[in-house]
Amino acid sequence: MSGVITLIKDDHAKLESVFKKLEGAEPSEIRGLLQQVQELLVPHSEAEEQVVYPAIKSTVPDEKEDVDDGLAEHQHVAATLEKLLGSDPEAPGVDGLIAAMIGEVRHHVEEEEQEILPAFSEAASNQQLGELGEQFTAAKERALAQLRG
Ligand SMILES: [Fe+2]
Ligand SMILES: [Fe+2]
Repeated sequence: MSGVITLIKDDHAKLESVFKKLEGAEPSEIRGLLQQVQELLVPHSEAEEQVVYPAIKSTVPDEKEDVDDGLAEHQHVAATLEKLLGSDPEAPGVDGLIAAMIGEVRHHVEEEEQEILPAFSEAASNQQLGELGEQFTAAKERALAQLRG
């Protein structure tokens, strides 16, 4: 376990700690926490799409379908986050939408960590995982800069 796999799991753990805060948040804290989720999640997802998912598809063709599902989940979660950030945190339905988004991301993370990444890590060389780690970090930084405008 090295390189890009570790970086991805570290991001997932950071995200989970913000989810825990979000689940116990006061209404006044929700917007700031949702912004933290967006800044962690959107660049992470974009870097996976640009750097990691294509490498997995070519190295482990059996995982192609799971990777495509993952891509659709990224898009759905990013759209939900946009919607939430445009809503009044105390508006009806917001609580439920936050809970649904957290559930969707947890399911997605579990699939990456339990299925997609182990299959990839078995098939890839340490050198490939290391190089992808550097590319993943660079892609994430570019995406974060773009997100912040
Ligand atoms: Fe991920
Ligand atoms: Fe992902």
